[in-house]
Amino acid sequence: MKQVHKRLLAWYETQGRHDLPWRNTDNMYHIYLSEIMLQQTQVNRVRDEYYPQFLEKFPSLEALAKAPQEKVLSAWSGLGYYSRARNLHKTAQIVQTALPKTQEELLKLPGIGRYTASAICSFGHEQAIPVVDTNIARVIKRYFALLEAKESRVWENARAFVNAQAPRAHNLALMDLGSLVCVPKNPKCAECPLEAECLGKTEAELYTQRKKTQYEALDLFYGICIQNGKIALELSTEKMYKDMLVLPRVEPIEEDFLTVFKHSYTKYRLQVYLYRLEEVREDVRWVELKNIKEAPISSLTQKALISLDLSE
Ligand code: ADE
Repeated sequence: MKQVHKRLLAWYETQGRHDLPWRNTDNMYHIYLSEIMLQQTQVNRVRDEYYPQFLEKFPSLEALAKAPQEKVLSAWSGLGYYSRARNLHKTAQIVQTALPKTQEELLKLPGIGRYTASAICSFGHEQAIPVVDTNIARVIKRYFALLEAKESRVWENARAFVNAQAPRAHNLALMDLGSLVCVPKNPKCAECPLEAECLGKTEAELYTQRKKTQYEALDLFYGICIQNGKIALELSTEKMYKDMLVLPRVEPIEEDFLTVFKHSYTKYRLQVYLYRLEEVREDVRWVELKNIKEAPISSLTQKALISLDLSE
């Protein structure tokens, strides 16, 4: 095993993604934030946009704890899966100044599951523990030829594989190997430092039974009501958009039709129809169009405004 560990680390040294900002810090808040953002969002988008912007607005856990939830949701605007932002904020309010240092304590906090707790402890505290995300799981399943393995079995194998001398670099190396070499389709086994011992290399695709996403087509009808440069938005009552500001839903009336566009969100394939709207509920929030960037709106709402030339 020692030789395998050594080869993996040597590969990571030359081929790993060492420039990612959350890998070059010991600030636990930064590491935590990156792991939450990276859960459903691509690395480049997090690195180039959302991570630096979020840290500029909320430079510390204390600053995040003190901020109103609406500001936190606005900083998350367009990223999707907004419960991540709500949980991040709740966690900051619970811990106030510093995150706990053990997996057990971390797991009690909102939005922190097994992956996030272990990532924080491994990447932030160099604890000799396994970390398993989808990329690492694929590497482990192939390397140990785990067919139709339950999650717990993958974790056990990852645990047996931990490099106690360099646990952090080992886990980061596995993560990069999974995303750069041991990819789902046509893995680049010839480039892999684990190729010699890998039990799954000849039938690599056996280990990637992907769950087929069941997409749902859905038509949505929204009303556009603008008065004095302000647009009417409502606090969402849907779970997915809880506490976000959304366009009011309407019954479609043909004469008021403005435009239609397609939008994808999680499992939904949406057709979004926009209608002129004259009357709105008493409790709407009037948001200045010129300040719309500071409002907690989803990418669907952003897209609706762009489609009508109301926002850039
Ligand atoms: N480095 C540390 N955690 C990471 C993650 N979740 N995705 C990509 N790079 C990372």
